[in-house]
Amino acid sequence: MQLFDVYPLQPIHIERANGAWVWDTDGRKYLDMYGGHAVISIGHTHPHYVQRLTQQLGQIGFYSNSVHLPLQRELAETLGRVSGKPDYALFLCNSGAEANENALKIASFRTGRSKVVAFKGAFHGRTSLAVEVTDNPKIQAPVNQNGHAVFLPFNDVAALEQYFAAEGEQVAAVIVEGIQGVGGIRVADDDFLRAIRRLCDQFGAVFVADSVQCGYGRTGLFFAHDHAGVQADVYTVAKGMGNGFPVAGVLISPEFEAWHGMLGTTFGGNPLACAAALAVLEIIEGDSLMHNSAEIGAYLAPKIADSPIVTEVRGRGLMIGFEPTPEWSHLRQSLLRDDAVFTGEAKPNTVRLLPTLNLTREEADCFLEKLRHKTEK
Ligand SMILES: Cc1ncc(COP(=O)(O)O)c(C=O)c1O
Repeated sequence: MQLFDVYPLQPIHIERANGAWVWDTDGRKYLDMYGGHAVISIGHTHPHYVQRLTQQLGQIGFYSNSVHLPLQRELAETLGRVSGKPDYALFLCNSGAEANENALKIASFRTGRSKVVAFKGAFHGRTSLAVEVTDNPKIQAPVNQNGHAVFLPFNDVAALEQYFAAEGEQVAAVIVEGIQGVGGIRVADDDFLRAIRRLCDQFGAVFVADSVQCGYGRTGLFFAHDHAGVQADVYTVAKGMGNGFPVAGVLISPEFEAWHGMLGTTFGGNPLACAAALAVLEIIEGDSLMHNSAEIGAYLAPKIADSPIVTEVRGRGLMIGFEPTPEWSHLRQSLLRDDAVFTGEAKPNTVRLLPTLNLTREEADCFLEKLRHKTEK
């Protein structure tokens, strides 16, 4: 059987990894400034993570959601504390798209409405409604085009107010990333997030904070939306939550009432997934990784901005995007091929940095050194 060929692949065969580093089958060592799409939050093969998962696998790997699984409660309690949302309830699932599907479903159940406000440049996943509220018609099949989504300009308070004034009674939810990731590391303005909160309150709509990429401590606070001092009704998390183990969550404010059968999943919240998520939170908390993200991000970003081959830097903490000059439109490929550095991209030409949250000053310097070399060549 062949693999269904949907991914453009770099000609690299990755074999092992440690911290912020990965090695290919030829023994070449790469600096991972991308963490496999923001997934690696505590570093590759962190010893505590490996030990907790290994121990759990030997004890019980899976049982279904038909019995009490004590690790789920432990995870909910720990996540509530670390995220600063102890009064929210947790629904566990498997991916970012699935978390967003469930968040929007909860919003629709609660309001009895079916319109979702999303924004230009948004990415919320590739399944049913998640892709419908994603601003990319190329990845929407006809079955995904059901007229539920309305796309408004990002960071435009006036446009949002205007839409709500006309159609606010129809809106089930507003879904917004605190920092658009796939859209090019675009930070949501504080005023914009506050306007979403105000209008959702006024019109009885649900504020869904997609924190799949920008959340989990990456920006220095647990949620990127926290920088604006707003509380969303529902937060979705995935990526960094399991450091590579597929686990995702929906954090639901106490205003929502659950009923049996409302949501469900076979794999979501299985003991192995909970062990992975607990190991991640223990390390985020124990090693002050949110503080490290803020500190190393604040160190890196201005130094990147100083580079003569960079025209603009955006982001917060360890979620950084920058624009190379037109002569360096191939910068990403050059960093990978010539310097063994993984970075991400956002169309058309943004370089995205989403490294592990325990990136050290030395590793940041290593990246800066590689960038500096470019101007010497
Ligand atoms: C903001 C955001 N939401 C949702 C998703 C979808 O997550 P997943 O690929 O785990 O379904 C992504 C993935 O890149 C994302 O960046």
